[in-house]
Amino acid sequence: MDDETARPGNEAEPEDGAGRERPAVASEGRPFGVGIDVGGTGVKAAVVDLETGSLVSARLREKTPSPSTPDAVAEAVARLIEGIEASGHRTKGMPTGAGLPGVAKDGWLRTAANIDDSWLKVRAQDVLEQHLDRPVVIINDADAAGLAEMRYGAGVGQHGVVLMLTIGTGIGSALFVDDRLVPNTEFGHLEFHRRDAETLVSGAARERRKLGWKAWAREFDQYLDRIYRYFSPDLVILGGGVSKETRRYLQYLTPRGPLQVARLLNSAGIVGAALAAAEAGGYRPPVSAGAGTVVAAG
Ligand code: BGC
Repeated sequence: MDDETARPGNEAEPEDGAGRERPAVASEGRPFGVGIDVGGTGVKAAVVDLETGSLVSARLREKTPSPSTPDAVAEAVARLIEGIEASGHRTKGMPTGAGLPGVAKDGWLRTAANIDDSWLKVRAQDVLEQHLDRPVVIINDADAAGLAEMRYGAGVGQHGVVLMLTIGTGIGSALFVDDRLVPNTEFGHLEFHRRDAETLVSGAARERRKLGWKAWAREFDQYLDRIYRYFSPDLVILGGGVSKETRRYLQYLTPRGPLQVARLLNSAGIVGAALAAAEAGGYRPPVSAGAGTVVAAG
């Protein structure tokens, strides 16, 4: 387990006694939630302040177990939560959400491109709830990242059609229409050069194909162009692992519409998963001021 981004902050307040049916949405004073982000490469978790979208505990991370079966992943998640608790944050009673890399419906994962396909045989929500001993809300990982960017990051105040793309082990997508999520869009699997797009232009594909940033960006630009032509988005937000590396490739992109880089970078999935769980319990975050800078506009 490595402690990636320890940020000092408030301690979580003691649990307020909420039962399993309805998670607590607020500690005394500030609303906190637990966000879990299960990716093809890493499993991460932290306590999130839902008012600001910032992390109040260290962000703990483990490598995604191999094979990434439900029990192995859930055990890793349980260790991360134990680690957070050991650092002084009581997480029981906080809304807890988990972003998973597949179509997430009614607590089930319905696709498993970058995770062991034994996930399709068990109800993901039940497995995590058993291991963590609390209610858990399941959401697609890119949808979680998109929610976080819309509420606290580059999408704040943006209406119309906004599309977040997360470029990492796979390509995830989160589509918003006037601020409302259209869940499970899976645009990373659009056909591109007769292939599943993410197998050619995800971050992992770039490494596997040993492409330099320029060569990768030229192909990714074609994929992006297709996205603009299909959906005419008012804004595209680029996130995921490659959003940390924008200075290496942004200059090669020629988007035909507004494009911004994600603000929450690698924390978006954690923050959005916590928010999704809190919102399922009725919480609404305050409207925050705009963020993000338009880096290119058509
Ligand atoms: C999965 C998506 C996921 C994306 C990013 C894709 O392979 O199908 O559900 O959002 O990877 O993890």
